[in-house]
Amino acid sequence: MKVLMVCLGNICRSPLAHGILLNSASKSWLIDSAGTSGWHEGERPDTRSIITAKNHNINIEDQKSRKFVLDDFDKYDVIFAMDSSNFSNLTAIAPNKTSADKIRLLMNEAYPDENRQVPDPYTGGQQGFEQVYQMLNHAIHCFLESNS
Ligand code: 4NP
Repeated sequence: MKVLMVCLGNICRSPLAHGILLNSASKSWLIDSAGTSGWHEGERPDTRSIITAKNHNINIEDQKSRKFVLDDFDKYDVIFAMDSSNFSNLTAIAPNKTSADKIRLLMNEAYPDENRQVPDPYTGGQQGFEQVYQMLNHAIHCFLESNS
């Protein structure tokens, strides 16, 4: 299975999602994350994401932010958006239906068809990152249960 986690900046939500999935999935899986913007290209995850991950024994500090590229549609089987803005940004650049069909809202793994959002924690405090972690962890383990 090849899975790409996508948010806006690829420094807060998707690096956490990437780390959680990498920590629990089979080593045979290809897992990465990207941002729909290139605003933080080359940067490490936000310190608050690094700390939150570390609190749960997950190391994400070696990740580097990158922008989503069209080749990702070919390379990955599933492309998870954190919120509906990420989802529509990805859908807008999908070159065909095969690509568009790979895009899913991550929280729908836990709450099918409810289109729940993983909130952007960037402007908030550390507590918001822990809440995001809990949401991501729940949805990712639901995904793993139906794909292992
Ligand atoms: P992320 O959070 O999409 O979860 O990585 C954000 C990071 C940076 C910005 C916005 C959201 N920003 O505006 O720079």
